[in-house]
Amino acid sequence: MKITDFGYNGEGVGHIDGKVCFVLYTLTGEEVDVKITKQTSSFLKGVPSRLVLASDLRQKPPCPYFEKCGGCDFQHMSYENEIELKKHILERHLKKVGFDGKIEIHSSNKDYGYRNKIRLFCCNDGLGFKQAESNNIIPIKKCLLIDEPMNEVLDVVQNFIKAQSLQKRLLNVIIRKQSGVHVWFVFKQEVDIDFLGLSLLLGNDCQIYQSVGSDNPQRVTNKTSREVEEFGMVYNFHVDAFRQVNDAVCEELYNKVAEIVKGEVVLNAYSGAGVLSGVLAKRAKVVYGVELGLSEHESAEELKEKNNISNLKNLQGFCEEVLPNLDVRFDSVVVDPPRKGCDKTVVEALNKSGAKQIVYVSCNPASLVRDIVLLNGYRLKQVEMFDMFPRTANCETLAILEKT
Ligand SMILES: C[S@@+](CC[C@H](N)C(=O)[O-])C[C@H]1O[C@@H](n2cnc3c(N)ncnc32)[C@H](O)[C@@H]1O
Repeated sequence: MKITDFGYNGEGVGHIDGKVCFVLYTLTGEEVDVKITKQTSSFLKGVPSRLVLASDLRQKPPCPYFEKCGGCDFQHMSYENEIELKKHILERHLKKVGFDGKIEIHSSNKDYGYRNKIRLFCCNDGLGFKQAESNNIIPIKKCLLIDEPMNEVLDVVQNFIKAQSLQKRLLNVIIRKQSGVHVWFVFKQEVDIDFLGLSLLLGNDCQIYQSVGSDNPQRVTNKTSREVEEFGMVYNFHVDAFRQVNDAVCEELYNKVAEIVKGEVVLNAYSGAGVLSGVLAKRAKVVYGVELGLSEHESAEELKEKNNISNLKNLQGFCEEVLPNLDVRFDSVVVDPPRKGCDKTVVEALNKSGAKQIVYVSCNPASLVRDIVLLNGYRLKQVEMFDMFPRTANCETLAILEKT
């Protein structure tokens, strides 16, 4: 099959018997034999089983698990080419809303070793990631998207799981780096495990947590957590609270949002652990943060208290319920929803808000353009791309809308 184009997820696109076929890990101009992994009445999906003709842009992937574990999409091209591809994909999305302006690109300073968090699944052979389009877990020894110290923690954790024969009882392990490293074991059932030896091995800067199911992690180590010092604030995240995964790109994104946002009364919707709210509060008279998650809300309240931020109001709840009932006239609104974008009730509340500007941070251009269409009192003025997730098909988009 000849790859004639790219799809919205950066995969190669061609045709088999007149039917469109999306082939992961291929580049425009290549010829491949395809193993079909999914078939519907309107399209096929597949992976290359043999490369017949390679593109000049093809590079040797540095990771032995590439194409096997579903973690990365783009190790078969240079980082510069990946950025170009992501820019073209974003341009295609934005064409749908008539935007053909220049997109400013913010690449990541690291294309590997940038992630501050990974979530691994457990199988009989230890920890790994799920294969693309499948629930098969591919065990890994190392992940190139995290740095060497995090990989060393992963190695110690893998040995602990084997030594304690935890494979059948364990669902996930989450490893997060903030100031120290945090390791969270998610079990399928109640367990009675002594983590002292692991804690000693991992050292003083590492906290261990456990839970049954992915709610309510309990810290099992008796150490004090160091705080993160960034943006002129000190703070900590609860281990299960949302946090942007690429620290350097996150810093650039938050600084950019803070630079753009104008006015005294600011709404930060889907505000997570409150770091951006804290940054915005330095410039505004009052900032309202609205966040659903309890762990995120509590992290945001702690951040507010630790840094004596008196002009920040953290509200916990669904944006769908909180925003329509907020009797506040906002100058500017920041929204940073999950991949599905904003609910219609949120869009309606934004349309009625009277805000002069909406700064939309999106990790999914498809839901972003859908919401831009629905934000009918606003005009898309500027777009910037922040490559928060190198080597994967995802990126963050910053869209600045002004009241018409
Ligand atoms: C993409 S994250 C952004 C978080 C934050 N802006 C940041 O930079 O860390 C989306 C956040 O929205 C929260 N969330 C998801 N659905 C929500 C809803 N319907 N209402 C309020 N918050 C929601 C999630 O818990 C998560 O913290």
